[in-house]
Amino acid sequence: MSRSASHSVRCALAAAALCALAPARAGGDVAAGKAAFRKCASCHQVGPSARGGFGPQLNAVIGRRAASTTDYTYSDAMRRSGIVWNEQTLGAFLRGPGDVVPGTRMRFWGISDAQQIADLLAYLRTQR
Ligand code: HEC
Repeated sequence: MSRSASHSVRCALAAAALCALAPARAGGDVAAGKAAFRKCASCHQVGPSARGGFGPQLNAVIGRRAASTTDYTYSDAMRRSGIVWNEQTLGAFLRGPGDVVPGTRMRFWGISDAQQIADLLAYLRTQR
């Protein structure tokens, strides 16, 4: 490998390490979260007319006890989870639904991008 090539490889590695360490922008970005919510919207509704559908409606979900909407039939796993959705629990659930609530009916691969999770949480906080 030439000197300059190995140098650029090292630079790329340094940049990747910085990326991994950079904390998610505090608070997240509501507009980006709204766009990211398209991933959720096939199963979840938010807004004034939101109802339970394929998944439960997600108005005011942050601060809500898991499995507490009245027009949706949850899995036993979700009902027994005892979770209150906050930044930590919801962030972890979106990263790996089945890790946080084994047996959940939410079939979703999970989001590995910390920034996207922060954006989604910021958007969901605006949906009351
Ligand atoms: C393929 C359909 C599907 C997708 C996509 C999906 N969900 Fe879900 N979600 C569900 C189902 C079904 C449940 C109910 C799970 C249960 O009862 O075990 C659920 C449950 C939840 C809950 C718990 C709600 C409560 O009342 O306790 C939250 C929060 C949630 N989803 C957020 C999201 C977010 C945010 C996204 C997008 C990043 C998303 N989901 C994507 C189907 C989906």
